[in-house]
Amino acid sequence: MSDAAAGYLTDVDYIPGFYPHMSPVAMRYAASLNRVVPPATSKSFRYLELGCGLGRSLTTLAAANPQGEFVGVDINSNHIAAVEKDVAAGELKNVQAIASDFASLSKDLGKFDFLTLHGVFSWVAPEVRDQILAVAKEHLAPGGLLLVSYNAMPGWAHLQPIRGILRQYAALRQGDTVQRIRDALNYLVFIRDKKARYFEDNPRAAAYVDGLLKQDLRYLAHEYLNEHWTSFYFSEVAGMFGSAGMAFVGSLPIHTNFWDLCVRPEFQELFRTTSNRLVTESHKDFCANTAFRWDIYANEPRVMQSPEERLKQIDDLYFRAARPNITLPHQVNLGVVTSTIQGPLYETLLKILSAKSLRLSEILKDKSVKGNPAADLIRAVDAGVAMGLFDVTAGPVTSTKTTTAGKVEIPSAFNRAVLAGDSLGGRPVALASVSTGTGHTLGDFDAAILHELTSGGTDGLPQRVDARLAGSGRSLQQDGKPVTDAAARQKLVESACDAFTTTSLPQLTQLGIVASAT
Ligand SMILES: C[S@@+](CC[C@H](N)C(=O)[O-])C[C@H]1O[C@@H](n2cnc3c(N)ncnc32)[C@H](O)[C@@H]1O
Repeated sequence: MSDAAAGYLTDVDYIPGFYPHMSPVAMRYAASLNRVVPPATSKSFRYLELGCGLGRSLTTLAAANPQGEFVGVDINSNHIAAVEKDVAAGELKNVQAIASDFASLSKDLGKFDFLTLHGVFSWVAPEVRDQILAVAKEHLAPGGLLLVSYNAMPGWAHLQPIRGILRQYAALRQGDTVQRIRDALNYLVFIRDKKARYFEDNPRAAAYVDGLLKQDLRYLAHEYLNEHWTSFYFSEVAGMFGSAGMAFVGSLPIHTNFWDLCVRPEFQELFRTTSNRLVTESHKDFCANTAFRWDIYANEPRVMQSPEERLKQIDDLYFRAARPNITLPHQVNLGVVTSTIQGPLYETLLKILSAKSLRLSEILKDKSVKGNPAADLIRAVDAGVAMGLFDVTAGPVTSTKTTTAGKVEIPSAFNRAVLAGDSLGGRPVALASVSTGTGHTLGDFDAAILHELTSGGTDGLPQRVDARLAGSGRSLQQDGKPVTDAAARQKLVESACDAFTTTSLPQLTQLGIVASAT
C-alpha cells in the first residue's frame, strides 16, 4: 500500500455506481432552495470529482452535460484506467481522469464551479481530509458548490461495532482482502445467529447484517476495511469546511432541506424557534437518527436578495411530473415522516406539469393557476419536488406521445457502450440524458431488453432476451426465489418485454436516451 493512500485500500477495485445527487442540476436546485445563487451551467462550467472510483457518476454526468468540463481524480490507477476506457468507448471529449493522490494535484488544474466527493470523507485518514479541504480551498471558484457525503451520527451509533467486528476479524485472517472480508462476514453472521449479546442488545444491528449479505464483497471491503473509517456529527463536518472558508448551503435529497419533512410534528416547535441553520441541522439528525448525509458547501456564497432573484437565477431549470399517471392524494414515506400531497393547487400543477415540462416563470404565467400568489405557487412546486411529485431537469423534456412501433436506436455513444457492457451485469445501469442533465437508472435486466431491442429490433425480442439470460448465469427472481423452470422463465421474460416497451421505452424516448432509428 502506498504511503499517499494513508491506510485506504488500493489492492481491491471498487464497484461502479451512478449517484444522481452529484449532478449539477441537483446541487444548483438545492442551493437555490436555500437562497444561494448557484453557478450558471447553460454555456459552460467546470466540475471536479475527488475519489471518482470507477467514474460512473463522472462519465454519465459528462455525457449528460456536453457543455461542461469534467475532471476526476483517484489514487487507484486501475480505477483511472477504467474511467479512461469508458471515456474512449463513450467518445467523451469533456473528461480528464487523473491518477493522483489529493495532495499531489497541480495548482494548474484551475478553478471549478462544482467539486464533489462521494464515499470518501468518512473513509480516509485525518491528513487526507485536510488535503481535501486544501484542494477545495485552492480549486473551488468563488460561488462554487461542493458536495460531500459521509457516514453520520447518531444513525451510525448502534452500527459502529459492525465495522469494528468486520475489521478486527478480517485482520486475523489470511488471504487477499476479498477473502478476508468474506471470512469476516461469515463470522459476523455466526455471532449474530448465535445471539451474541451485542446483537441481542441491538436488534437493528442484527437486521442490518442481512443487508450486508446482499452486497458485493468489493463494496464491503471499501466500506469497512479502511483503517480510518469514521462517522461524523454534522457540526464536525461543518466545522472542518468552515475552517476552509466554506459555508453550509443545503443538502440532498431535496426533502432534507425541509425540516418538517424530516422530523415528527412533536419536534417541530423546536425548529420554529431556532433560526440558526447549523443548530437545526443537528436537531434534525438527532430527531431523525440520520446515518448518512449529502451536504452542500459553498465558497463565498452569494445570498439571493429576493424571491424574484431566485426566479431569475434558476429559470433555466425545468419542472415536470416525476412519472406518468400520478394521482392525488400522493402519499410518500420519507423515512421518519409520511406526508400526503393533495388539494386543488397540486391537482392543477400536476396537470400542467404532466402535459409539458416548464420553467418556474412559465408555471407562474400559466392560465390555470391564475389568482394564486407567486410565493404559494413556488412553495408548492418546491414541496412537490421534495415529495417526489415533480422532477427538476436541466433542460426541457419532451412530453409528446411517442410511438414505439418502429425501429429504435440509442443516439449517445456513451449510452451504447454502457448498455453493451453492463446489461445483465447484476447491478443498475445508468444512462445519460442531455435533456435532464443527469443519468437515469434502469435495472440490468431492462437494460438487456433495451440492448436487444436497439441491436436487433422487435422480431423475436423475448426469445432473444431469454436466450441471453439463459447463457448469462443471471437468474430472474419471483417471490424472492430464482426461477429455474425454463417455461416459467420465458413467460416472465415475455411480460417483462411487454412492460418495458409499453412503459419504460416511451419514457426513455422522452428523455432523448432512445430515438426512432433513421
Ligand atoms: C468508496 S470509493 C468511492 C468512489 C466513487 N466516488 C463512487 O462513489 O463510486 C473512494 C475512492 O476514493 C479514492 N481515494 C481514497 N483515498 C484517496 C486519496 N488520498 N487520493 C485520491 N483518491 C483517493 C479510492 O481509491 C476510491 O476510489
